[in-house]
Amino acid sequence: MENHQHLSGQRTDNQYKVDLEPVGRRALIEPGMTLLDAAWRAGVEIVAVCGGLGACGKCRVRLVHGEVTPPTAAEGRVFSAAELAAGYRLACQARPLGDVKIDIPPASLSTPQRLQVEGQESGVAVDPVVRPVDVTVVPATLHDLRADTVRLTDALAEQHMPRPFFDQPVLRDLSRKLREQDWSVRLALRRRNQRSEVVGVLHPEQALLGLAVDIGTTKMAAYLLDLASGHTLAKAGLMNPQIAYGEDVVSRIAYANRHADGRHMLQARLMESLNDLIDQLCREARVTHEQIVEAVVVGNTAIHHFFAGLPVRQLGESPYIPAVTEPLDICACHLGLKLASGAKVYLPPNIAGYVGADHVAMLLATDAWRAQKPTVALDIGTNTEISLAVDGRLLSCSCASGPAFEGAHIHAGMRAAPGAVEYVQILEDGVHIQTIGGRPPVGICGSGILDAVAELRAAGIIQRTGRFQPDHPRIVPWDGGGAFLLAPATETGNGNDLLVTRRDVNEVQLAKGAIRAGVEVLLLEAGLTAQDIDTFIVAGAFGTYLDLESAVHIGMFPPLPLERFQQVGNAAGTGARQMLISAEQRRLATQIIERVRYVELTVHPGFTSVYMDAMYL
Ligand code: FES
Repeated sequence: MENHQHLSGQRTDNQYKVDLEPVGRRALIEPGMTLLDAAWRAGVEIVAVCGGLGACGKCRVRLVHGEVTPPTAAEGRVFSAAELAAGYRLACQARPLGDVKIDIPPASLSTPQRLQVEGQESGVAVDPVVRPVDVTVVPATLHDLRADTVRLTDALAEQHMPRPFFDQPVLRDLSRKLREQDWSVRLALRRRNQRSEVVGVLHPEQALLGLAVDIGTTKMAAYLLDLASGHTLAKAGLMNPQIAYGEDVVSRIAYANRHADGRHMLQARLMESLNDLIDQLCREARVTHEQIVEAVVVGNTAIHHFFAGLPVRQLGESPYIPAVTEPLDICACHLGLKLASGAKVYLPPNIAGYVGADHVAMLLATDAWRAQKPTVALDIGTNTEISLAVDGRLLSCSCASGPAFEGAHIHAGMRAAPGAVEYVQILEDGVHIQTIGGRPPVGICGSGILDAVAELRAAGIIQRTGRFQPDHPRIVPWDGGGAFLLAPATETGNGNDLLVTRRDVNEVQLAKGAIRAGVEVLLLEAGLTAQDIDTFIVAGAFGTYLDLESAVHIGMFPPLPLERFQQVGNAAGTGARQMLISAEQRRLATQIIERVRYVELTVHPGFTSVYMDAMYL
């Protein structure tokens, strides 16, 4: 059966069917309507900054199947002949001539819908390190005085299974469960070299579950998976509670250094929030904590160390050395996590002090690490980690890109929530903005500020250096270099003028300069130029919804044809899920580490001049 939501009722004779992928929706439309009308009818928010006039070029879609009207002049201006031949069209211009199927690239979806689309299944063969074994033992009597562990070991031997290892946390529950469940249990057996370890004791009908967590500096995302099928049963997100101790990891390390129990406090806050997330996931999936028999947690190196309770002082001081880069297995009970009594938390390997397991997970999920042609893969955040894969080698670096794209340090910055400006277009007839949910604007999210700066630069309202043209009618006086009036108070949702200030432009310059400089230094190291890049992978929440053209326009990314870019969503989360359900993926993660050469930007002879150049718009 097709998995489409029919939102338009019964089909009549003179209606066409429009299937919208990858959102999996369907609309029924009348002849003469556009693909944009179809999307709106199906409740799919396609970006349409100019409101369907064919002027903004944002509503790009690709025709996969069926026939639509020939390209209009507006489409001729936006697309090359090759793109038109490949099926690319503007949704506001193309009108179906029959049933059609279209593919909506992530960049053409509004932010919340883009985030919904991500989180597809992880796509690897299911081969978890923990497996269920059902055992029924002979009840203990005065004539059979074997210990419970011996009783189970003997029953496993009858199934030709080797003697397992029982650790103390599991033994605390084992005897009670055996008796409560009439001597039948489902053991969760975790592979441990040649032997296996019992990490959970369940009822024979309970499924074995796993938890994958991606802990970012700002946000955390958690996924609950069925270890037998590999399917994601529930997912949930929360802010990282450590924000209260510092916006970035450097200030959190400083906090930990200043306070005697600072490191433990930061670890405890993390565990409390993770336990809240686990509660939420269990409620949603209607399962119990004890069914979660394995977890994988990824994060940057500092987050990894805070999570594992490792010292962080040396991470915050040059030469920024991690305590460990090898993968770790830590008992959840030692961390205070509400999982099965013997569950282990697997922490994949780190690359360096500022390139952590989350980057490894991203390289794994995107397959970038084994690309044969030059491939750049980066994850934009407060810190941006970048890898360049070439000829089976990997060069990696980390750059401090700041929180501008998370809406922080921006005058009207806000997260991607209703009322946030997410697209800006400056056309001859004025300034066009699109907000999330179509609400009156109240602030600007990361993609909005990137777009605004790109458009202001394209319209000549800001100079290469980032200074405003003082004589433009929309430039208003503002502390530290003026501001551009994006929307007057009469049009905003909070009654305040919506401004892009000179300082905002500077924040974007710092961020984009750092990212571009990181890419250029890796290219220098590899003896390549930007034009040699075959594929440019942009991961992470912000990377998913930024406008690629704007990013190229302001010089954050090199000027490559747009088809060489891929926006892949939260690939670190996908990589964590892959390592949760597949022992092979854990092995590959270790191989990735062996191929990486870390490049320290701050001491690289070419970095300063490349960075200064990259700051220009
Ligand atoms: Fe289609 Fe602007 S909405 S080009």
